[in-house]
Parts: sequence; C-alpha cells; structure tokens
Amino acid sequence: MRFTKLLFIIFIFSFGTRLSAQTWVVPDDQKAITAPFKFTPEMQKQGEQIYLKNCQSCHGLPGKDNWVKLTPPPGDLAKEKAQIQTDGELFYRITAGKVPMPEFRNIIAEDDRWWLIAYIRSFNPKYIQPNPVAKAAFAGRTVTLAMEYSDPMKKIVVTATEQLKDGKTGPAASVEIMLFVKRYFGKMQVGDIKTTNTSGKAFFEFPADLPGNQEGYVDVSATVNDPKNAMKTTPAQANFAIGVPTLKPGLTETRAWWSTRGKAPVWILLTYTLSVIIVWGFILYIVYSILKIRKLSNG
Ligand code: HEC
Repeated sequence: MRFTKLLFIIFIFSFGTRLSAQTWVVPDDQKAITAPFKFTPEMQKQGEQIYLKNCQSCHGLPGKDNWVKLTPPPGDLAKEKAQIQTDGELFYRITAGKVPMPEFRNIIAEDDRWWLIAYIRSFNPKYIQPNPVAKAAFAGRTVTLAMEYSDPMKKIVVTATEQLKDGKTGPAASVEIMLFVKRYFGKMQVGDIKTTNTSGKAFFEFPADLPGNQEGYVDVSATVNDPKNAMKTTPAQANFAIGVPTLKPGLTETRAWWSTRGKAPVWILLTYTLSVIIVWGFILYIVYSILKIRKLSNG
C-alpha cells in the first residue's frame, strides 16, 4: 500500500517536471514587443561579443549545432525552432530565462539584449526586422495611473488613463511605467520599465520571494518614466498582501543593551566577567598576604 502511494507521488512529480519542461509560455503582450531601434551590422558585432561571453557555453555557436547536451536541450538558436519566434518572444526568453538557462534581466542591459537578437537574426537570411515602434510623443500629455493586483495572472496591473483634448479621458497607450517597492533604505525597482498597451495597461510580474511586513503586505508605487518632465503625471500607490511575511524578532530577543540578561551583547558579558575575575583575584591575593603576615608573626 505504502509502496504504491510512493510510486504514485513519483509519477505525479515526474509528470509535473516534464510538463514544465515543455511549456515556456511567453505572454501575448511580450510577444508583440519589437526592438526600439533598427538593427545594424555594428549591433550584430556587439551582440556577437555578448553571445560568446554569456551564451556559447550552452548554445554553442549559431549554425554549428554544437550546443551542450542538457535537459531540456538549449538547441541551436540559428535553427527554425528559435527563428520562427518573434523578436519579442526571444527578448522575453533571454530576459526571463528558465532553469537551467539563467535570467539575464539584471546581467545584460536591455539594449545589449536587443543586440544579441540582432546577432542571432544575422544567421537567418529570411528575417526581415519589423519597424521599430517609435516612442510616442510624450509632450503635453496628462496621465493618471491606477494599480491593482490580479490574482489569476499573479501580476500587478497598472492602468494609465489620459486627459484627451475634448475633455474626456481615455486609455494612455505607449507610456513607460516603472514599478517600485518600498524598502527600509528607499525604493527598489521591480522588473524592467514596461510600456502600456493600447488599453493603457502594463503588467508587472512580482518576485515570489519578496519580503513584506509582518502580514506580508508590500507598499508598491507606480510612476511614469518621464525623465524630461514632458508630461503631467499622477503616480499610483497601493499595498498588496503579496510579499512573504517577515517575523520581526521582539525587542528582548536580540542581543542589545536594553535586552534581558541572557541576551546582553557578548562584549559586555566578556568585559564584565573579566573584571569580576580580576577584582576577586585581587581580594584573594590580599587575604592570602594577610594570612601570610599572621603566620610569620605567630612563628
Ligand atoms: C546554462 C545554460 C544556458 C545558457 C548560459 C544560456 N542558455 Fe538559452 N537556453 C538554455 C536551455 C536549456 C534552453 C531550453 C529551455 C527550454 O526549452 O525549456 C534555452 C533556451 C533559449 C532560448 C529559446 C530557444 C527556443 O528554441 O525556444 C533562447 C532564445 C535562448 N535560450 C537564448 C539564450 C541567450 C541569448 C543566451 C545568452 C545571453 C543564453 N540563452 C544562455 C540554456 C542556456
């Protein structure tokens, strides 16, 4: 009975890992993303250098089919399996990674990740780059952000609305959004800058292991990336119970001045003990000396 149960569990687990190995889904809004600039031979050359340093160790050289035998197989990126994907898909996969492939989000800068794609595409003579999406003119727009957490998607959804000329409001597309989480030392950016889609929405994945407060709440704020201050923007703020609850130790549980005797700082314990030993030693020495004097005078 036990044995069959164990077999069943092993079966379920192996099935689960096989499933996750097969599916590496790229969200639709990410698939549609295009490079913000036209690829040049110069970029391909830069991309090659980055590729040799970060990717060759697993994927081998493009077109040479000399990738390393791993599970799942990394494959040759010059081959159809990779080349039929959109630039946005490739960009997403390089950015997010998937075990054993590392996440390059914070290792390779955004522009450099596009250069990698310029290099990978240079092995596909049929590839025609889609026109880079020009950044929308920001000047004069009035954008207001709202934010919610979507449980089914496990994502923070930022919605940007904008004041239109006729006094109405509508979704603000192509606005760059930055998401921050409040930490003790200030604000920490979550993920990359995201651009709102035609419904004015931007989606942020949330790190699963981010520590929250005691109840797991994290303070999140969203702002528009507008370094030139060309827009009038209103940021959004909210807190969501999506962090890992942190149990702060009580005041008496750490070693500190104000703590109980058992938790006093170690250096205080040591100096205190040492001075007690020295003082007692001195007293004993004096008593010993007095006894010796008495013995001498008696004799
Ligand atoms: C530690 C090994 C490793 C490194 C380093 C690595 N990859 Fe991967 N990569 C993999 C594996 C394994 C897969 C297959 C994952 C899967 O299919 O589930 C993969 C898949 C991919 C895919 C998707 C391919 C497809 O056919 O769908 C792309 C694109 C990719 N890697 C690009 C890169 C780039 C660019 C770099 C360097 C910046 C890189 N990888 C570095 C192991 C690696």
